[in-house]
Amino acid sequence: MLLRRLGKRLEQSGVKLRGPVMLQLVEKPSQEELEKGAILQFSRAPVELPSAEDQQFLREGLAPYLRRKNVSWYPRAGKLTGLQAPAGVAARARRILREHSLRVGEFLRRSMPEFTRDWEPGTSSFRPLEERGRGLSSHASNELVHVDAGAYGATHGDRILRFFVNLNPTRDRVWISRGSFGELWKSFGAEAGVPAGALEPTVAERAYSAVVRAFPMGRVIDTSPYDRRMRRFHNWMKETPAFQHGPVERFSFPPYSAWMVLTDGVSHACIEGQHALVDTFIVPLRNCRLPAPYHLLSGRA
Ligand SMILES: [Fe+2]
Repeated sequence: MLLRRLGKRLEQSGVKLRGPVMLQLVEKPSQEELEKGAILQFSRAPVELPSAEDQQFLREGLAPYLRRKNVSWYPRAGKLTGLQAPAGVAARARRILREHSLRVGEFLRRSMPEFTRDWEPGTSSFRPLEERGRGLSSHASNELVHVDAGAYGATHGDRILRFFVNLNPTRDRVWISRGSFGELWKSFGAEAGVPAGALEPTVAERAYSAVVRAFPMGRVIDTSPYDRRMRRFHNWMKETPAFQHGPVERFSFPPYSAWMVLTDGVSHACIEGQHALVDTFIVPLRNCRLPAPYHLLSGRA
């Protein structure tokens, strides 16, 4: 009886007691919980959001000029992609995303100084399209369950941390998950042709990486044994109907809520929702205290 009451209270507070993925309603980020594979949800975004006018501009003003599924700001390269728009429209989109990315980055650095040390801010993106039924190719579809691999380029084992805000004023953004990378890899790694084994790049690969990563967007054309193995698993998940039809957990993120997760370590798919801000950061593997996908794939965990 007591246990049932405790369980009910935990569930009301946002902690999921059943299923492989833990959703936690939180007020501040926690490195430990992220590394354990939790999705940390904030009932209201913990950073100041773009003004109401700027939000409306993102939701409605960009629509005629979209060229890709995301409008993305690359801070390191100082580049905006996904739009073909008059200079004033592009400049406003760039300013909004740049300011948002700075606010999110500062919040996360302040909250997790050790975890974020020497990290690399990746992109700040606005997702303008309805996720349900977009009919994209299987590799590009957000509606299919996957762990992130390669979407932002090679990481060599560094972690992919993503911070999301539902900028839709009236509708939830809905995710599903089949659990953590570790659980899925143990169950399906062999079937997917993704074994454990050495991940050391060859001398030639190391030289190639050093050259391309000297350029601001070099990560996109870089590669490594780790990234190729992760990509193979990512593709297998999206291409395997039996996997996609397996049991999932479902999460709803209300308007103006925010959530964050290590998306290389937790499987996910967005099956419904429109208008979200997504900020990506690459966190050095050496900052991790718990086994990461790299350690599992290299056979060291
Ligand atoms: Fe993803």
